[in-house]
Amino acid sequence: MSEQRAIPQHVAIIMDGNGRWAKQHGKERYEGHIAGVESVRRVVRAAATHGVKYLTLYAFSTENWGRPVAEVEAIMELFCKSVVGEAPELVKQGVKVKIIGERSHFSAKVLEMIDQIECTTKAGDKLTLVLAFNYSSRREIVLAAQAIAERVASGALRIEEIDEATISQHLMTATMPDPDLIIRTSGECRLSNFLLWQASYAEFYFPEVLWPDFDEKEFDHALEVYSQRERRYGLVTEKN
Ligand code: IPE
Ligand code: IPE
Ligand code: MG
Repeated sequence: MSEQRAIPQHVAIIMDGNGRWAKQHGKERYEGHIAGVESVRRVVRAAATHGVKYLTLYAFSTENWGRPVAEVEAIMELFCKSVVGEAPELVKQGVKVKIIGERSHFSAKVLEMIDQIECTTKAGDKLTLVLAFNYSSRREIVLAAQAIAERVASGALRIEEIDEATISQHLMTATMPDPDLIIRTSGECRLSNFLLWQASYAEFYFPEVLWPDFDEKEFDHALEVYSQRERRYGLVTEKN
């Protein structure tokens, strides 16, 4: 599908509002997360259809380990179930899955599922679906700093050679372009430790809709809003 409007190459979404959605519907919080999986399905399909090349979804932050154990366990279980259940459809749609985040803390089962989904979908070339799972942007920057320091200490890199590209190349998003558009649902207007370095020139969009209610129409509207933005990167253009 070729579109006239400017389509972001990389869309990143902070999927927020599952708990409030559950409460609104008289359900338990975990049922909100289950309902959220349906939105993921819809948005992956819509992103591929519109020609978006990278879709990053914030699924679980490092800080989220601090939630009640039952909720955390329900999220882990949902992740495993979804990975198994969605794999054939993702392969069919040409979606390659990549997980970013620290691999520590996870159970053997979750680690196995991560390997499995990355391996099963590795040939996908239409859309890269990046799941931020046990992700913390500050931690990612700390790890990058450690890796760079190690290269300097071993003599593989000189201090003067460290530039912005060096930092980017040591982040978990190393092989991807920076996000063009960051969406956070549920009306919250903050990053919550998500892609701090990568977001430096992203456009932001904060719809009120709760994540389980986010559908193709909402995604299309987000793309519409994006296409109306003027990205100036600090320069002066004809319009201003
Ligand atoms: C986002 O929804 C999903 C995760 C953080 C795992 P929330 O669970 O944060 O939903 P609210 O913010 O409580 O409504
Ligand atoms: C951010 O949402 C993390 C994810 C969507 C996975 P939170 O609901 O955890 O963030 P805060 O606590 O409202 O900042
Ligand atoms: Mg939340």
